[in-house]
Amino acid sequence: MKLFTKISLSIAAVSVLFLNATAEETKTTKQGVKATITEESLGLRKVDLYGEKEVKPEETKYSKTYAGSGHKIDRAFQDAPPMIPHDTEGMLPITIDNNQCTSCHAPEIATSMGATPIPVSHFTDFRPKHKFDGQKFEKSVDNMKNEISIKAVEQLAGARFNCSQCHAPQSEGQLVENTFDPEFTQPDGASKSTWRGTKLTEGLDTLKD
Ligand code: HEC
Ligand code: HEC
Repeated sequence: MKLFTKISLSIAAVSVLFLNATAEETKTTKQGVKATITEESLGLRKVDLYGEKEVKPEETKYSKTYAGSGHKIDRAFQDAPPMIPHDTEGMLPITIDNNQCTSCHAPEIATSMGATPIPVSHFTDFRPKHKFDGQKFEKSVDNMKNEISIKAVEQLAGARFNCSQCHAPQSEGQLVENTFDPEFTQPDGASKSTWRGTKLTEGLDTLKD
């Protein structure tokens, strides 16, 4: 055999061995992985990640129970914004001219509607005060007081107007099981917030104007 042929054959043989080894390795790795951690267990959707194209996320199914059916969702933790338990069809998005949420939840109407009244915190202004001459912002006074003037306001505070910024409807069905177990500081914490009366401002030294 010519030297050239010999070398070619050797290369071919080595390549075959190498390819075999690689194939074997992949198989072993895959088998090894399968035995301990499956592809299906890696993602939240519990499907083989190589079948990504066929994967469909779970459908979003907002509650269809009408407002007034009495259904409520336990709060996630003490003083968490409650989730919206009822259908919001036709109520969202909230615009400056159309905020239907207030038509049932405004404190003066809510009780007669069987709805939870908008709490006192939403009628409190927590925003910092600055001087603004149309061009330049300037801190008004005392750094220690952080320029906050917490006070009750007659109307819903601007920061609370867009209800769905904090209160969200909840989709039914479960992508992953929720094992979070809240510890409420109050016995009724799952259904009520503690922010009442002057509780929010007690002991705070803030601007008085
Ligand atoms: C037609 C009246 C009505 C409208 C409009 C309405 N709600 Fe409600 N809402 C209720 C009632 C009544 C309840 C009490 C649960 C029930 O009976 O459905 C409630 C419950 C809630 C709760 C849960 C309160 C708790 O104590 O757990 C939240 C949060 C809420 N609504 C937010 C909203 C938001 C945000 C909007 C606007 C997108 C809105 N609601 C529009 C009547 C209404
Ligand atoms: C910036 C976030 C934010 C916005 C915006 C907001 N909320 Fe809330 N909401 C909260 C938080 C936090 C709580 C729980 C603590 C508390 O009572 O203030 C709450 C509590 C509530 C409660 C339950 C009160 C109780 O006594 O248990 C109702 C009802 C409610 N909000 C309705 C509304 C409505 C209606 C709007 C729109 C007009 C709105 N919220 C806008 C954060 C928000």
